[in-house]
Amino acid sequence: MARYDRIARQWHAATGRRGGSFKRHVLNDVLLARIGDACGTRVLELGCGNGYFARLLLDRHSGRPPARMVLLDASEEMLQLAKRGLSGHEVELVQHDVRRPLPFDDGAFDLVLATFVFNEIPSRQVAKACAEVRRVMGRGGRLLATVVHPELIHDLDRRGRLKPAGRGVLTMPSADGLRLPVTQTSEAAYRRALEDAGFAVELTALHASEAVLNERPALGRLSNVPLALLLDAGP
Ligand SMILES: C[S@@+](CC[C@H](N)C(=O)[O-])C[C@H]1O[C@@H](n2cnc3c(N)ncnc32)[C@H](O)[C@@H]1O
Repeated sequence: MARYDRIARQWHAATGRRGGSFKRHVLNDVLLARIGDACGTRVLELGCGNGYFARLLLDRHSGRPPARMVLLDASEEMLQLAKRGLSGHEVELVQHDVRRPLPFDDGAFDLVLATFVFNEIPSRQVAKACAEVRRVMGRGGRLLATVVHPELIHDLDRRGRLKPAGRGVLTMPSADGLRLPVTQTSEAAYRRALEDAGFAVELTALHASEAVLNERPALGRLSNVPLALLLDAGP
């Protein structure tokens, strides 16, 4: 059973159909702006969770949808939640572990999204996954991957907020008392994984906005620590 099968319902209750407060107030708009017009493109989302972002993207493209939309996740429970939230939309759901070779042809996609999934797998497997993303995007295409910012993970570690969960897995606190798996991959390691796979990459640190801090005042204690790192990778 995938780890998220056990917490899928709790995750869905905590984050809903628009994501938690950081996504609602910051990340969703950043991603949608970077994606621009996805009409007619072939989109793959890795670690899609409850499918909330795919739904946002498809609703925005109502009447002019992407040519193909594939949602992949290791957790069957998460995929079932995604299926329910996306009824009426043409999407393919694939249960698969991104640590294994992707079950798609070379050059099958134009855009790959991966939000808060690469920070859950060890860095050498991030490197393999990036090489696979490159293969399934062929020469063109773009990867937009967001990870928990390594500075935030370092800060949580320093304050004793990371906890072992067996088999070498660490967990970090998340919304509504949930603990999510996290690895201590550095910014340099993410960059190297993408560049070794043949991508040119731009890294952007994303911070909590005032609206996020109003909803989650505990984040204010982090002072200026960024919450997420956006990896925008292309040819
Ligand atoms: C923190 S959640 C993020 C979900 C969604 N992207 C979002 O931002 O709401 C991480 C997701 O990645 C999936 N995941 C974790 N490790 C995975 C792996 N090795 N292969 C595929 N999916 C994985 C989990 O099942 C979960 O749905």
